[in-house]
Amino acid sequence: MSNLNINAPSHVKNAKLIAWVAEMAALTKPDSIYWCDGSDEEYARLCQQLIDAGTFKKLNPAKRPNSFLACSDPTDVARVEDRTYICSEHKENAGPTNNWMAPSEMRATLQPLFDGCMKGRTMYVVPFSMGPLGSHISHIGIELTDSPYVAVNQKIMTRMGKAVYDVLGADGAFVPCMHTVGAPLAAGQPDVPWPCNTTKYIVHFPETREIWSYGSGYGGNALLGKKCFALRIASNMGRDQGWLAEHMLILGVTNPQGKKYHVAAAFPSACGKTNFSMLVPPAGFEGWKVTTIGDDIAWIKPHADGKMYAINPEAGYFGVAPGTNFHTNPNCMASLDKNVIFTNVALTDDGDVWWEGMEQDGGGLPAHLIDWQGKDWTPEIAKATGAKAAHPNSRFTVAAGNNPALDAEWDNPAGVAIDAFIFGGRRSTTVPLVTEARNWMEGVYMAATMGSETTAAAAGQMGVVRRDPFAMLPFCGYNMSDYFQHWLDMEHKLEEHGHTLPKIFCVNWFRKNEAGKFVWPGYGDNMRVLKWMIDRLEGKAQGVETMFGIAPLFDELTWTGLPFSMEQFDTVTSIDKASWTEEFKLHAAHFEQLSYHLPKELIETKATLEQRLKA
Ligand code: GTP
Ligand code: SPV
Ligand code: MN
Repeated sequence: MSNLNINAPSHVKNAKLIAWVAEMAALTKPDSIYWCDGSDEEYARLCQQLIDAGTFKKLNPAKRPNSFLACSDPTDVARVEDRTYICSEHKENAGPTNNWMAPSEMRATLQPLFDGCMKGRTMYVVPFSMGPLGSHISHIGIELTDSPYVAVNQKIMTRMGKAVYDVLGADGAFVPCMHTVGAPLAAGQPDVPWPCNTTKYIVHFPETREIWSYGSGYGGNALLGKKCFALRIASNMGRDQGWLAEHMLILGVTNPQGKKYHVAAAFPSACGKTNFSMLVPPAGFEGWKVTTIGDDIAWIKPHADGKMYAINPEAGYFGVAPGTNFHTNPNCMASLDKNVIFTNVALTDDGDVWWEGMEQDGGGLPAHLIDWQGKDWTPEIAKATGAKAAHPNSRFTVAAGNNPALDAEWDNPAGVAIDAFIFGGRRSTTVPLVTEARNWMEGVYMAATMGSETTAAAAGQMGVVRRDPFAMLPFCGYNMSDYFQHWLDMEHKLEEHGHTLPKIFCVNWFRKNEAGKFVWPGYGDNMRVLKWMIDRLEGKAQGVETMFGIAPLFDELTWTGLPFSMEQFDTVTSIDKASWTEEFKLHAAHFEQLSYHLPKELIETKATLEQRLKA
């Protein structure tokens, strides 16, 4: 409908925004345009609309008040990394780890796809702030989407609503985030519960700071504030402006004396960020407290006082459901007791949700469920066919305010001063439980060469080791080697201001024994490692030099309440010469791939480490 009146509300004063909405409406041709105000009334109305459309099932209000279950199309269940593009002017600026197409060619590809893509649908205008509204650290995005599911998720995941327009004013800047499920409806054509398209494009234009997403309604493909904006576009902003946009949780940890530290940790997708950010210390750690600032993304800026300050640009959690239970993550379970959107988990006969891992909460396996694909599920069927009740990448969307462990500073626009960075992948072999980098350079090396076994968070093969530098492989919006340089440069930026560099640690919760079982108990027991890190910050633990940094002595970890033998400790901490000889070959291949602009200090550090291994 080229003559569609876009009906901008009177409180929208930004001429650029109004012109862009008009242009996008002319291109995508929706039946109508709806400007979201972010109110609770609007949220309730859109949820009801999603129920009527068959996208949402309302859960039993006695069990899960004000909560919903959405089940996606079975082909639209995770991020699509092979369909994700960084369209910088020059290919070298996207680098070898990103898909690239020339901007003009990509625009020509997208144009016919977006032409008329919203026919028969409503275009939602979703205004959001990444970071506290009006904070100097925050940035505004406007997502145009034909998915009401996206609109209600954005209400939880971001500061979404009318107040964004006040901050934006008449001439403020915003990141345009164009999203369509790519499923126009002909006149009279009935809709499906989860419209999407087999063709998918998740496209970023870093120079013009634009996002165009086509064909998917799921997670990071569609909630464009998250990976597309807060990581891929923001990493470009950070490079230009001297800050960092990272795939990191942020937590506060307070010792029994009341001293508080802040830690930011980068683990790849589905490798434990949400869990670690909500950690409940085990028995024996009385007086210790862990509080959540963020569970997925950190924006980190060096400050004139010589410290690095981090904020969580998000306002909610889009977390992995399977494996979450009262034993592994009680704070998360408590967060999910009301006001939640669940996607691709199973439905119980009494209108509640279920996923693999919940059987450990005492109830055992339920006798009957409707699985995420709408099929009957019983323990017998599961045993015979291996069918999962919940998709392995099924998720919950919940506001940060639901988290009983939410840090009092989580919303502070100034952020929190980071004392330590942690990097960790999912490695069943080779990488030890924890080591501390001897200096910034060695820490950057550990992060840059991190490997991890792939998970269900991305479409594709699972369980194969790939290099995932800084847990940013799918999220760095520019050349990875330039990104390494940006991290190295931080050391000198901070030195100029008096040098209070955070310590850098490398962890691996996922070592397995010969029987294929995890050796380290993980979850709350990760507190034992976190406490050792604090002891290192306070100069209380001496540690022992290894090839790959400083490791804890057995007696330096607090073992109260956990029977863990010296032999078990050795299984999770040993540095095997043969495995590391192979590992360094993988680092070499990785550096080979990244040779353009690769900081030479990384090659030098590799040589030093290899010397240490030989010694
Ligand atoms: P994204 O949201 O995809 O970025 O993932 P995340 O890093 O926040 O991962 P999350 O905390 O949701 O954990 C993903 C999976 O890892 C879940 O199935 C957890 O049960 C499991 N997990 C988390 N922490 C541990 C741990 O310490 N040990 C083991 N063995 N598994 C863990
Ligand atoms: C991840 O895959 O790292 C996520 C989930 O946090 S998504 O938002 O889908 O990217
Ligand atoms: Mn993530």
